Amino acid sequence: MIKHFLQFKDLTRDEHLYLFDRARVIKSRFKRYQPYHPLVDRTLAMIFEKSSTRTRLSFEAGMHQLGGSAIYLNTRDTQLGRGEPVEDAGEVISRMVDIVMIRTFEQEIIERFASHSRVPVINGLTNEYHPCQILADIFTFIEHRGSIQGRTVAWIGDSNNMCNTWLQAAEVLDFNVHVSTPPGYEVEPERANLYGTDHFESFADPMDACRGADLVTTDVWTSMGWEAENEERMKAFADWQVDADMMKVARPDAVFMHCLPAHRGEEVTAEVIDGPQSVVWDEAENRLHVQKALMEYLLLGKIES
Ligand code: CP
Ligand code: NVA
Repeated sequence: MIKHFLQFKDLTRDEHLYLFDRARVIKSRFKRYQPYHPLVDRTLAMIFEKSSTRTRLSFEAGMHQLGGSAIYLNTRDTQLGRGEPVEDAGEVISRMVDIVMIRTFEQEIIERFASHSRVPVINGLTNEYHPCQILADIFTFIEHRGSIQGRTVAWIGDSNNMCNTWLQAAEVLDFNVHVSTPPGYEVEPERANLYGTDHFESFADPMDACRGADLVTTDVWTSMGWEAENEERMKAFADWQVDADMMKVARPDAVFMHCLPAHRGEEVTAEVIDGPQSVVWDEAENRLHVQKALMEYLLLGKIES
């Protein structure tokens, strides 16, 4: 059975805990300049249908650091952009490389690709989910504050791919998510049902969502693919800007996270994202370490540290 990582819940709680532990070991060796090349001769294909800085860099550098190589493909330069069926692309690409990462639009596209792939497929962001980012975010929380189990994450803003993945992760790893979105941008009821109500609570006022939180987080008001709605979103989200007042009602040791890229003065103030509670640079760096652990696991299984 090929193991894919298309959604956070594709891996069990134990598998996620293993990945966090493994990322810690891989990061510490990397920081000490200890070469580690378990993926010599392995090739990663990276397919991008949307822009990226962190995802491309962390996957490409990560594969190189593990001894393998990475190939960047985008829809403009490949036959995917000219209508080749995604199923055919899955058949062909997976006969030539060992592992594939895809950033695309609908989740359905990556699922169709994976169902025709002979090798593991990783979700590098879809409209619905961003599981590699949440892997990095939780690893970052563990580094700074210890286990996330039983803790409270406040999600402020759009109920987008990041929010959906936080909700899924809360079910897998047993923590709580307090969500506050503007009216009209709420978590889709079927998603709330899908993930159960045990770990998810919705708040009309973002201050109430932040009260007592261990982690406050947000994301852009307009995700890739929704650019046409930008103007109306700027108005609708104006009161959902994470600021110092929101951080004040969270726990005194609360951390602030943002997957980046960020827009200071929109979803977050400069005071918060550049302030002492912000861990956004560690969060971005940790994409590299968790994804190295993930690729190693999908290709080689569990390794004794
Ligand atoms: N956070 C994140 O996925 O960043 P990129 O869009 O730059 O890859
Ligand atoms: N929600 C954002 C995340 C970017 C990393 C988007 O989908 O554009």
